[in-house]
Amino acid sequence: MGTAVDHMPALLTEVLDFLRVRKEGVYVDCTQGSGGHSEEVLSQLEGTGQLIALDRDQEALDRARERLGSHSNLKVFHQNFKELPTLLSRLGIEAVDGCLLDLGVSSNQLDSPERGFSFRLEGPMDMRMDTRQETTAAQLLNECSAEELAETFWRYGEEKSARRIATAIVERRKSSKIRTTTDLAQIVEKVKGRGPRRIHPATRVFQALRIEVNQELAGLEEFLQQAISLLADQARLVVISFHSLEDRIVKTVFRKAAGKCVCFQPAEFCDCPRVEQVRILTKKPVTPSQQEVEINPRARSAKLRAVEKFETTDS
Ligand SMILES: C[S@@+](CC[C@H](N)C(=O)[O-])C[C@H]1O[C@@H](n2cnc3c(N)ncnc32)[C@H](O)[C@@H]1O
Repeated sequence: MGTAVDHMPALLTEVLDFLRVRKEGVYVDCTQGSGGHSEEVLSQLEGTGQLIALDRDQEALDRARERLGSHSNLKVFHQNFKELPTLLSRLGIEAVDGCLLDLGVSSNQLDSPERGFSFRLEGPMDMRMDTRQETTAAQLLNECSAEELAETFWRYGEEKSARRIATAIVERRKSSKIRTTTDLAQIVEKVKGRGPRRIHPATRVFQALRIEVNQELAGLEEFLQQAISLLADQARLVVISFHSLEDRIVKTVFRKAAGKCVCFQPAEFCDCPRVEQVRILTKKPVTPSQQEVEINPRARSAKLRAVEKFETTDS
């Protein structure tokens, strides 16, 4: 396990500006990680103020506990954020004053060889954020068909050599199973060559596989819609994504909830609901400053989008 402060929270100042924490409000950090964003939100809470923090990775929560200690304003749950509506109803909370999602993988996950997220570090081909889950990356690599693997590499990694890599994986496993990150990195390198590239040839394959193992995009759209419905009047939802498909989902859900067209059909054919629930606070996604990227290169692809719930009017 790393130290308590080794994951640097992305877009921290911007997150706090958008969340606009009220000291007695109820906030949710859906992806607590090692607690960088949580720490700042907590520091602004007083009295009945509450932070409910979730992560599907127990190691992340342990790390956050080391960083934050116990706090009367903090409740932590080892859960998938998709279970938030049930959790809040169990806690008797009808609406929250702000909600943060900082999607994707953490530096701590990437930097722990035994978690198997990185092609740079030899470890088991695991990649599960929640180790209670059964399916590992090794299982997918050793059991999926070449077509299924190619589809994953293409869809989530836009890997141009998806088919050739998938075929090489299936060929290789006829003689021995793929067990380690190095096994996979070497197969990809053999297909694509090392080249003079700055980016490792296995980057896209590892990213795609991680998204598939953790089903990161499945149900995200529905969850964001639910999260919007859980916001109190004038409360805000802030989402940071690191993948273009994720950002597209966030953008579309936000547009729809703002009563805008998302089908882009001519007006006579458009059947978008056009119900205005939120105001979009970020016309374009907010990205890290050059200074932040210099200090924390892993934040470079972060995109933040935020919405504010309209006040309900009694009519
Ligand atoms: C980029 S990190 C968050 C870092 C955090 N904001 C911080 O300041 O340290 C993403 C975290 O989200 C968690 N995560 C990803 N998908 C999740 C899900 N569906 N439910 C709960 N946690 C999830 C990961 O385990 C990881 O710890």
